[in-house]
Amino acid sequence: MKYHIVTYGCQMNLHESEKIAGILREKGYRESAPLEEADIIVFNTCCIRENAENHAFGNIGSLKKLKRAKKDLLIAVGGCMVQEAGKAELLKEKFPFIDILFGTHNLSELADLIVRKRLQKKAVLSVSDERKEIEDGISPVRTSYPNAWVNITYGCNNFCSYCIVPYVRGRERSRRKEDIISEVKQLIAEGYKEITLLGQNVNSYRDGETAFPALLDEVASIKGNFRLRFMTSHPKDFSAELVAVMKKHTNICRVLHLPAQSGSNRILELMNRRYTREKYLENVKYLKSEIPDAELTTDLIVGFPTETEEDFEDTLSLVREADFASAFTFIYSPRKGTRAAEMEGQIPEEVSKERIVKLIELVNAQTREKSGKYVGHTAEILCEGYDEKKKLYLGRDTYGRMGYFASETNPIGEFVTLKITRASGISLYGERI
Ligand code: SAH
Ligand code: SF4
Ligand code: F3S
Repeated sequence: MKYHIVTYGCQMNLHESEKIAGILREKGYRESAPLEEADIIVFNTCCIRENAENHAFGNIGSLKKLKRAKKDLLIAVGGCMVQEAGKAELLKEKFPFIDILFGTHNLSELADLIVRKRLQKKAVLSVSDERKEIEDGISPVRTSYPNAWVNITYGCNNFCSYCIVPYVRGRERSRRKEDIISEVKQLIAEGYKEITLLGQNVNSYRDGETAFPALLDEVASIKGNFRLRFMTSHPKDFSAELVAVMKKHTNICRVLHLPAQSGSNRILELMNRRYTREKYLENVKYLKSEIPDAELTTDLIVGFPTETEEDFEDTLSLVREADFASAFTFIYSPRKGTRAAEMEGQIPEEVSKERIVKLIELVNAQTREKSGKYVGHTAEILCEGYDEKKKLYLGRDTYGRMGYFASETNPIGEFVTLKITRASGISLYGERI
């Protein structure tokens, strides 16, 4: 019996798909296989923007034929989209061939749902409102060696006015510190070389007396040859303690992903982000004064309701002033049930498209300029894979920059020093030394 998992969305979902694979293995499904050969296909969905949903809808729809030809095939759909108000019912109606629908709080029930489905003809559906306890105890089938994801928090309490995550992931819960530490120790013992601590807002982690900087300090102090990343940090919770811990441990990667969303104070206020442009830039300055080589990456949204040309110009100037190494850029997508979706002054798509093109141009120019500076220098990367098209190995340096190189032996999982000979966009090319 074989499984196939299709994942959309963020790292959180990628890691959750590893847990889904863990559940399926326990249930007797032995290996991951191409879609056509699978006995169960699981879609782990995302609803952060409309296009993420459209992708999933299209791909689930295209399975109708396969399901008709293969009567015993099970199709399960889970994740954030299923948790959205009314979406599970809509999916069921539109795609009657779906066998199992499970919400974000129902992941651990998947094995039971498979059993239930075998006993009944109609689809089984399990979408709970909220789950307070943390789902420890599922062993994930990790797919990203030498990197490993470790959850530290679940859910989000921030309610940024555009964002659906708090509605589909529930209230914030922190995992127990002891559980996190023992998971990381185990991963390092197994040979993982990069640990990424995951949460929608890692900075608000709290277990009793332990806040995020103390947790980070403890994880970074674990003995072993590994690197540590964490995401995502919310600018409102940026602290001197966090910077001090980063400075103390050189195994913490020298890049901070700090989503700014906008450079305009008026828009930040409407977004309910709870910081100003000035405060954001002050934090950037502090980080760079303490750790001069630290890089910043960010997320930016254009076309938020009422955004004027002037607001947009403020975002462009923030990109320059904060000197971002790279950025994920998005066109605002109204999400039903969020406050921003009800706001007056929704921006026409043509305007947002024009703005995002300009923003991407600026971000890319900055990225290229920074990449160019690597040429002639060395970079230490952790080799994480092989690019079949380029016929080169690849890996990231501490700043998150991707480096490509040739190697006679398989260096996946090794730290490799490259002499950079060429830079192209965000990527570096070099020779192993
Ligand atoms: N918790 C993280 C990640 C949230 S989702 C954080 O707070 O940074 C990742 C990114 O998607 C967000 O940072 C935001 O830039 C973007 N995003 C969220 N909702 C969106 C929406 N409705 N339209 C467009 N982009 C959105
Ligand atoms: Fe969404 Fe804001 Fe929470 Fe991030 S912090 S998940 S953007 S509500
Ligand atoms: Fe998407 Fe859910 Fe992540 S909405 S971005 S998969 S938390």
